[in-house]
Amino acid sequence: MPDAIPPTGPDPAFADLLAQRPALAMDASAGLLMEEVPLARIAQAAGTPTWVYSATTLARRANALKAALAEAGLAATIHFATKANPNIAVVNLLAGEGLGADVVSEGELRAARAAGVPAGRIVFSGVGKTAREMRLAIAEDILQVNLESAEEAEMLSALAASLGRTVRVALRVNPDVDARTHAKITTGLTENKFGVPIALAPELYARLRAMPGLEVVGLATHIGSQITRGVAPYAAAYARLGELVRELRAAGHAVRRVDCGGGLGIPYRDEQPASPAALAGAIKAGLGDAGVELMLEPGRWICGPAGVLLAAVVLEKASVGRRFVILDAAMNDLLRPAMYDAWHAILPVSPTAFHAPRTAADVVGPVCESSDTFARGRELPALPPHSLVAFLDAGAYGASMSSTYNARPLAAEVMVRGTEWSVIRDRQDYPALLAGQRLPRWADGG
Ligand code: LLP
Repeated sequence: MPDAIPPTGPDPAFADLLAQRPALAMDASAGLLMEEVPLARIAQAAGTPTWVYSATTLARRANALKAALAEAGLAATIHFATKANPNIAVVNLLAGEGLGADVVSEGELRAARAAGVPAGRIVFSGVGKTAREMRLAIAEDILQVNLESAEEAEMLSALAASLGRTVRVALRVNPDVDARTHAKITTGLTENKFGVPIALAPELYARLRAMPGLEVVGLATHIGSQITRGVAPYAAAYARLGELVRELRAAGHAVRRVDCGGGLGIPYRDEQPASPAALAGAIKAGLGDAGVELMLEPGRWICGPAGVLLAAVVLEKASVGRRFVILDAAMNDLLRPAMYDAWHAILPVSPTAFHAPRTAADVVGPVCESSDTFARGRELPALPPHSLVAFLDAGAYGASMSSTYNARPLAAEVMVRGTEWSVIRDRQDYPALLAGQRLPRWADGG
């Protein structure tokens, strides 16, 4: 299986990283800005670590995706994959731009509804929806449930029929294409747990159509995430789906909708992912003539570049031949480097540090695991205690993958818009961290 390509060549220059990220700028006196707000000001008021999102960037990216689809002549709806960032302020902003939501749990469904996404714009994906989650989806009468197996279809059919309801469903098909992304986030191969193999789809589609309580509206697919090596995997997947639509129709089945999934990659370092226009082109080539309603489920592409994780230096530790920069953020906050060897740019926030000479450092968190390492051999200036750094492109799968490992409270989240900023999630306090825990009944001496 393919793995992430190890970074080669020198890291991109700080100035180049900023030039490609319009939400960020280095101000000679105020330091690193998100939109027009100094990140140092946010750190001072809200503390660190803190996630900071640019509202303007979120809206701009949602609209860029809409424009690319429209320019290709595709009338597709976009359902933001809330797993990338389920903060209700983020989802609400995107809903305001006309996006729906793709959810994979009761929590995400509730978050999407709390954020103001109409049920009629919510699609429920995932391989293991529980009966309770299915009941909620039925009660809310959401747009569509994407089914991943015959077993799951039986379960949903029985529940819907017993409630006297009909649920719109799509069959998630695994087109067996290699998205050539990291092994942990590729999903479109037969060996993955997702969807049903495309060869079995016609038979299963027919079975689903006969099940009570289900209205089979079409097909869904999602071949993987952080797809960066061209548009070819998409083109192959959508071509296969287009053929399948024709085959199903020839067999007398109605197919009125195809959910094209998510997965569009972003440049974290120097990757050159396909553009939204290229993605739209692949959809058009494979499904443009199919006469189906089209849906997309992007997450990372919309919100990844819109966020940073702001952290402070606890101290620098000099070891034998190595320099460690120890931050107050850790793998419990930003898990991606530990989990996927992901590369995130790390920029000093202060203008003097930004321009100071650099030496190689390992950037780590305080958690008691060697994998609590954000970067090795990263060229950084001297960073005295309390200096601030920003991890770029942390708006997707950042806060949403956080945990409280080492009993570290969840970090705060902030949204910036122009000159304004606002806390959109309080930092978890210690009472909240311990809330709900208690000694067993037999230990209270009573
Ligand atoms: N639709 C389905 C069914 C998915 O499983 C996913 C992501 C998406 C849409 C959205 O994919 P996106 O456009 O964000 O690539 N934690 C990993 C990424 C896991 C993605 C899981 N599924 C990371 O940090 O890279």
